[in-house]
Amino acid sequence: NVVDKGNHRHFMLKEIYEQPDALSHTVSHYVDLAKGKVKLPADLPFDFAKLNRLTISACGTAYYAGLVAKYWFEKYARLPVEVDVASEFRYREPPMDKDGLALFISQSGETADTLAALRYCKAQGQHIASIVNAQESTIARESDIVFPILCGPEISVASTKATTAQMSVLASLAIAAGRQRGTISEAEEFELVDMLAKLPGAITKALASEKKIDQISHELSKASDVLYLGRGSLFPIALEGALKLKEITYIHAEGYASGELKHGPIALIDETLPVVVVAPSDPLFDKTISNMHEVAARGGKIILITDEAGAKSAGDDVHEIIIVPNAHAFVMPIICAIPVQLLAYYTAVFMGTDVDQPRNLAKSVTVE
Ligand code: G6P
Repeated sequence: NVVDKGNHRHFMLKEIYEQPDALSHTVSHYVDLAKGKVKLPADLPFDFAKLNRLTISACGTAYYAGLVAKYWFEKYARLPVEVDVASEFRYREPPMDKDGLALFISQSGETADTLAALRYCKAQGQHIASIVNAQESTIARESDIVFPILCGPEISVASTKATTAQMSVLASLAIAAGRQRGTISEAEEFELVDMLAKLPGAITKALASEKKIDQISHELSKASDVLYLGRGSLFPIALEGALKLKEITYIHAEGYASGELKHGPIALIDETLPVVVVAPSDPLFDKTISNMHEVAARGGKIILITDEAGAKSAGDDVHEIIIVPNAHAFVMPIICAIPVQLLAYYTAVFMGTDVDQPRNLAKSVTVE
């Protein structure tokens, strides 16, 4: 089957728009909506209740999906998680207790560093699980269990639907881990599963800010640097936003944990620096407001990605607001991935770069 762009100008936009359907497909594979429970394969070769640690390795965007998952597994399953880029992990010679769980995330299933990390963990007596899109791949073959991403082929070098689908799989696994470890109740599982079920609708709503994002991108295209800030499980989405922007627009971008603003990036802020703040309203939103104040006081132009409540309390410091639908904090990283994808996409289109085949990058990095 030859995949074509359909009516879309680029594969990247087509894949961004496929996310409601792709996630609906992925989520329905992992959760039983009628029962409000996560479905786990009967032949699961490990028991989350017996684990002391989960070790996640991946590269690029998949690594950021792993970073989001750390927040989920620690909060909902009280399971300590280590996440590292595979290229670092593989040479660190990290000590590992026997019978731990090592999880690898890869769209292609062929990334050389991720595969090497997998082989290291196998030699250390770990259970090997992988989340992959290409089920015929080497990483899939060498795993004890494969959790398929099921988002369909992804052609654009900059990953979009594979990332959000990976996060949906990870969210389902975190709920399953919480159930096996007895850290979430049935009612809580029901609520979290319901959030996953509502994701496709929420993503469709998030896509509706496309026009606003297109406008904002004209301004963003003039910047030579962009700072992305996020806190908690939205911190990896700030990293992801910066990665997407630099990959396809070649504008220098950095993602930072909001709380680290004072420890470095604040020195960069002046009127030429757009600051994208990924911050839906949550109990820590006041801290974000104070971060934004510090940015605005130095002339930095804030582009805030938030929900309606966040938009209401954001104050006058904000230059532009991109609204995402209201949702439970659990699924916010997946929802907020949409505007950061669109922001990078429209900026690239406005600048006329090769969106689907950015210079120097490859879809799958099979050599070190
Ligand atoms: C390359 C791609 C990225 C991807 C990374 C990991 O850098 O350009 O989009 O996130 O490899 O690829 P994988 O196939 O292992 O997910």
